[in-house]
Amino acid sequence: MARLAKVHGGDLPKLNFGRFSTRSLFELAKDNAVSGCIFETYSAFKAIEQSQKASDPVLRETMKKIAIDESKHAELAWDIHRYLWQKLSISEQAEIEQAQKEALKSLLTPSTFHLSHKERILLGLNKNTASLFFANWHSIHNQKMSA
Ligand SMILES: [Fe+2]
Repeated sequence: MARLAKVHGGDLPKLNFGRFSTRSLFELAKDNAVSGCIFETYSAFKAIEQSQKASDPVLRETMKKIAIDESKHAELAWDIHRYLWQKLSISEQAEIEQAQKEALKSLLTPSTFHLSHKERILLGLNKNTASLFFANWHSIHNQKMSA
């Protein structure tokens, strides 16, 4: 991905995963519900779209591989979510649902709004991708929870 970004004049940000810490089951469930169920699922959703719509064939092929990876990450998160959900209290579940709603809303102001039309075509990114994901969230959620 870094090589592809460089070929097209871009760069990847440095990743920082922070310090290792011990968390409660609730904290783990909340983090997984947001980072895994929302952001990994959205990453898979977006990568699938890019694998179909990017004008650059190398990018399309790369995004196909990334879509498979992101889908696996999302499925793992949903497996964990279903397992942990039953161990949470009603108030913990409500707090996690609220955190997911806030995470979903955050997707509606993505960092890709600054991209030009030409860049969007190249990358296969649609301005409405996040809105589409947001609009379909309930059916995605229900499907994943009943898997
Ligand atoms: Fe991922």
